[in-house]
Amino acid sequence: MKMKTTLTTLCCAVLACTAFATTANAAKIGVSMPTQSLQRWNQDGRNLEKQLQQAGHNVELYYAGDNDIPTQVSQIENLISANCDVLVVAPIDGGSLTQALQGAKDKGIPVVSYDRLIMNSDAISYYATFDNYKVGQIQGNYLVDALKLKDAGTEPKNIELFTGSIDDNNVNFFFGGAIDVLKPYIDSGKLVVKSGQVKKEQVATLNWSTEEAQKRMENLISSAGYGPDGTRLDAVYSSNDSVANGITNALVSAGYTAENFPIVTGQDCDKPSVKNMKRGLQTMSIFKDTRVLADKVVEMVNAIVNKTEVPVNDTKTYNNGTGVIPSFLCTPIVVTKDNLKEALVDSGYYKEKEIK
Ligand code: BGC
Repeated sequence: MKMKTTLTTLCCAVLACTAFATTANAAKIGVSMPTQSLQRWNQDGRNLEKQLQQAGHNVELYYAGDNDIPTQVSQIENLISANCDVLVVAPIDGGSLTQALQGAKDKGIPVVSYDRLIMNSDAISYYATFDNYKVGQIQGNYLVDALKLKDAGTEPKNIELFTGSIDDNNVNFFFGGAIDVLKPYIDSGKLVVKSGQVKKEQVATLNWSTEEAQKRMENLISSAGYGPDGTRLDAVYSSNDSVANGITNALVSAGYTAENFPIVTGQDCDKPSVKNMKRGLQTMSIFKDTRVLADKVVEMVNAIVNKTEVPVNDTKTYNNGTGVIPSFLCTPIVVTKDNLKEALVDSGYYKEKEIK
């Protein structure tokens, strides 16, 4: 670990008394983000860079183009050659970094897996994320309540299911959490999936692409005859907002309006989805405050650098194939049009005009 000059150390010591979780040891932190094509990762990268810098670290931040795996591999190799003290990585494909990260292991560089778990690598020291299974459960329970599935007199409801990229380990938790809640109702016939597509592989959306989701929803609309004047569609389960946006586009093209819009779930509170919620064209989203996640990662990085105890709150759930990775799980929050102002604007996450 490189120590800075006495002056820098002194400044850092002064800063340590401020609100920022400042470390006495300034370190070089390499950050690898998956893509700039989705709002969430631009925001995560920006937040993390800012908060690590405020803690006194030097940050090298890379985005792997538009989900380009070879680019991410070579960026990580560069960060390792540059002798970063800690690496923070959000993988595109959780299983594609085993070889690249062996270099980090060989050099003794600790790796924090960010939001998505890096699989099959024993180079991973810690994992920081939201409670991903809970995200799926919350989405599932939202549908159960909104469709009144617990009421004895409720008629069977029609639903279609969408999740994200199969190479993203989070999908197992989001979809797993939701399907664990919904499956009893599908089995009892209270929920009907007319397409018959209920397996994760059948409902996945490569790269969480809005366009892919739109195409699949359009196909479902024509094959099942869904439409305001056709077969009733009560709800669409979507694991996140980029997928929900594609679903909404297809539903709007099929003639649905705010008055008869199926329930559509989401996650991230991306700006287009927040606008859709305000207009009645998406029903809910999950707010994962990326500032909170960045804060936690900064705390983890500082503890690693200072060799103090790293904050974790889960040591059971996330096995990446080489063993359980000690994790910190942040708490997700449900957002609908009723609380979006309070959750997103009053908290300073968005300015009102950004979601007009
Ligand atoms: C993240 C979600 C995000 C998705 C697509 C997942 O790994 O946890 O928040 O919507 O990737 O970017």
